[in-house]
Amino acid sequence: MQIQLETRPYASIEADALVTYVFDGDNKLDGVAGEIHRAMNGRLGSLVSSGEITAKPLELVLIHFPQGLAAQKLLLVGAGKPGKFAASDLRKIAGAALRHLKSRGVKKFVFLTREGERGPEAAQAVVEGLIVADFESDKYRTDKKKSEIQSASLAGFDGGLAGNLNGAIEHGRVIADSQNFARDLINEPSNYLTPTMLAAKAEAMAKEVGLGIEVLDERRIHELKMGALIGVAQGSVEPPRVIVLRYVPETTAVGAPVLGLVGKAVTFDTGGISIKPANNMEKMKYDMGGGATMLGAMRALAYLKPKVPVIAIVPATENMPGGRAQKPGDVQVAMSGKTIEVINTDAEGRLILADGITYAKTLGCTHLIDAATLTGAIEVALANVNVGAFGTPREFLDQFLASAAAVGEKMWPMPMDDEYEEMIKSNIADIRNTGSGKGGGAITAAWFLKEFAEETPWVHLDIASTCWVDEGRPWLAKGPTGIAIRTIIDFALKL
Ligand code: BES
Ligand code: ZN
Ligand code: ZN
Repeated sequence: MQIQLETRPYASIEADALVTYVFDGDNKLDGVAGEIHRAMNGRLGSLVSSGEITAKPLELVLIHFPQGLAAQKLLLVGAGKPGKFAASDLRKIAGAALRHLKSRGVKKFVFLTREGERGPEAAQAVVEGLIVADFESDKYRTDKKKSEIQSASLAGFDGGLAGNLNGAIEHGRVIADSQNFARDLINEPSNYLTPTMLAAKAEAMAKEVGLGIEVLDERRIHELKMGALIGVAQGSVEPPRVIVLRYVPETTAVGAPVLGLVGKAVTFDTGGISIKPANNMEKMKYDMGGGATMLGAMRALAYLKPKVPVIAIVPATENMPGGRAQKPGDVQVAMSGKTIEVINTDAEGRLILADGITYAKTLGCTHLIDAATLTGAIEVALANVNVGAFGTPREFLDQFLASAAAVGEKMWPMPMDDEYEEMIKSNIADIRNTGSGKGGGAITAAWFLKEFAEETPWVHLDIASTCWVDEGRPWLAKGPTGIAIRTIIDFALKL
């Protein structure tokens, strides 16, 4: 999809469709609403007064052959009350419009922004909304739908800021393409995405965007004594990998922070010997979503060039119940030296992250973010609305949550009281890999990770319920969401 700025008067632009959005209160017919009303010889006002256009958020009204406009269709998207409007609404409006038009065979459209949203921030949000909405999970379909959007033009933006605007469009494109890069990985079936194949895809991406990469193979993983990762991997015939990506800024001040991004990449989670029920098990191909999140974020950072070095560490393995698989009750020695009693082999994400976090620290990371499809319990707590965000110290978590709010990704702070730590004490080892079975499953999982992050400022994102949606939304196809990537990018750029 081509995206470009359009400066000609929009009423005379020949396109398949002209898109804009209407607010509650547009019956006053001023600003852009008034301009369209006049171009259409007074016909917009009658649609508002008849009640056909109510401006309810994301309500779509499609008008064919709008008189007075050169476009074939006029799509009006409801935008609610003007006072509450934010960039995140603009993202959804642009996305919902694209998906509506795409399913109706539109190839070229013009997106007309409103008074009040004419600067670079708005342009970036529209571009992000469009590209993320354009993503389809149809790679393995032989009967792909033909309909494709070829071009979207952005109209109404302030030409006085043109240099800035083109930069914002590029910025938006990098972020959304990186989000879609991660979504592509998350969609891959596990027979097309083993740990080895994930590492190969990471290598190809790193080469393309100019990131450093090192892939640790089984021999290296053993040398480094990553016992927690090895314990999970030993049940599979597919060997594990640890993917290490590096972004190095041109200049770094001495003592500057080094950001570590650790992502869980279980390319398929059967549960191991503590095997999962068959129902919905096919979904466990997306148990590498945290790893994909970090690869997507790194792809974007390679272009956007934060001031601080960033290292991504993605431990990748299958969790299988093979003849050599670890068994409940086994004790593993993690890379850090801590001993872990494996109560449930299905709590494998925290095991591989334990070694990922330790390795990040040995590489010199001073600040850590991890992302993982870690627990079913986070869905009980927050449904598919908010990412569960944990972290210590609290100020570091708050700084991260400020980025989430800035980019419009919903995340909710979860508690880390000491009482939860008691629940992962083991009778025979330093810690056990599950809680006491008395609730708080997402929190005890986070506490397990904290045992390895220790005093390093650390944020843990449990994306188990938000990384994938079973039902599409007007602005987003069903399937992988690419959640948290935008926040991580924003956070790295502000560090
Ligand atoms: N990968 C799962 C968590 C998950 C569940 C992700 C649903 C996406 C959707 C994780 O490895 C797991 O199985 N966790 C267990 C932990 C339990 C055994 C302590 C869980 O949440 O049930
Ligand atoms: Zn599991
Ligand atoms: Zn898992």
